Amino acid sequence: MHTEKHHHAFEPKIVAFVCTWCTYAGADLAGTSRMQYPPNVRVVKFPCTGRIDPVFILRAFQKGADGVLVSGCHPGDCHYMAGNFHARRRFAAFRALLDFVGVDLNRLQFSWVSAAEGGKWVEVVTELTERVREMGPMREFLELEMEEHWSALPTAPELQAAYNAIP
Ligand code: FES
Repeated sequence: MHTEKHHHAFEPKIVAFVCTWCTYAGADLAGTSRMQYPPNVRVVKFPCTGRIDPVFILRAFQKGADGVLVSGCHPGDCHYMAGNFHARRRFAAFRALLDFVGVDLNRLQFSWVSAAEGGKWVEVVTELTERVREMGPMREFLELEMEEHWSALPTAPELQAAYNAIP
């Protein structure tokens, strides 16, 4: 086996869910300032991280993302008041589910990037891309028998709601 060499040739697909007000503007600033960062990231913007359903993260992994970034306004800067606090709590529960079903949590990154932090955007994206590149392609998740694992988790209402939202 020469998996290490193989990993070097691997270019991870990263999906970034960001809020329009802060992180998207920060990413835009990085672009217009011509800062260099890996082209591996596909950005999906939302009005607020509070609107990002954990199911979207699940879907991203299912559709072949090797890593997922969720990034919004700094605490207190959210344009919808406590939207990002709410999101953070929800995602904490969701991480537990990912962990339970065997997804390496190192593939998932949360961060705060403001509109002025083009440099921080570059840093966060570069770090996640490099980490996931080292880890290799996402495989675990595709082999999971979701139904069985999920039905073993009846207690957390948020997780149950996420499960019910899958058509
Ligand atoms: S508006 Fe950015 S996290 Fe809520």
